[in-house]
Amino acid sequence: MPEALIIDGKRIASEIRDEVRIDAAEFLQRYGVRPRIMFVLVGNNPASEVYVRNKGIASEEAGFSHETKVLPANIEESELIDLIRSINEDPLTHGLLVQFPLPKHIREERVIELISPDKDVDGFNPLNAGRLSIGLGNYFAPCTPAGVIEMLARSGIAVSGKHAVIVGRSNLVGKPLALLFAQKNSKANAVATIAHTGAGEKLGEITRSADILVAAMGVPLAITADMVKPGAVVVDVGINRVADATKKSGSRLVGDVDFDRVKLKASAITPVPGGVGPMTIAMLLKNTLTAAIRQVTRVAEPA
Ligand code: GUN
Repeated sequence: MPEALIIDGKRIASEIRDEVRIDAAEFLQRYGVRPRIMFVLVGNNPASEVYVRNKGIASEEAGFSHETKVLPANIEESELIDLIRSINEDPLTHGLLVQFPLPKHIREERVIELISPDKDVDGFNPLNAGRLSIGLGNYFAPCTPAGVIEMLARSGIAVSGKHAVIVGRSNLVGKPLALLFAQKNSKANAVATIAHTGAGEKLGEITRSADILVAAMGVPLAITADMVKPGAVVVDVGINRVADATKKSGSRLVGDVDFDRVKLKASAITPVPGGVGPMTIAMLLKNTLTAAIRQVTRVAEPA
């Protein structure tokens, strides 16, 4: 079997980020408005701090205006809600991202419901999830699943008519990705299956029926070579830190796929890191520009 194509998410993401930067500059020229995104970080979760910092850097490089509000871990839920409401009402801010996870005493579902659907560049608000589900066009798709679809399209991997199996049923990845795959458009039109732990012993049988297999369950190295059909396209959404005594840091990042063995069987595969991860930020920038365009051009329209 020929060597698998290793899909370079970093390169594809960088291509998208260049396009967004150019489009944002054009938008600024035409409307005199710089897309603006507000990040809200509650507490001091080290991973969240890194994610938000990287999103800020990416926003800067895209020519966006951005700000990060850092709130103490013990902030009252009502205070966070007041802040979200004030950002919702600020006409100069087009995108709002509250980084998850939040401290236990704050109800994430309440936060998700409160973020204005127009500024919900994460695509988590139930109105955006519902619009995606019933096929309305004006939604924001969650960034990671949207990134998977875009990555396949830009790698020249045909999706139409293929059986896409997603292992994992999260609201962030599994469920929206299945809906995106099943949409009737040129980047999708696949037959989509959501597999999960409920499949029990049948899981391998289901994954072996996949032409496109997406691992999104958050279990390190769970997709082994025997679960993959020869020639399948394998997309790894997992990011897991595991102990590794040979590394100076004492740990390393691995995906949900046993990359070293599965790559010998797949026709194409995404690595971790450098696969789906960089696509998430690229799609966040795309959503933010879209949010700005929608908000500004709507205001500019005659009543
Ligand atoms: N935490 C982990 N991933 C994400 C994400 O995509 N968006 C937000 N808001 N929080 C996260």
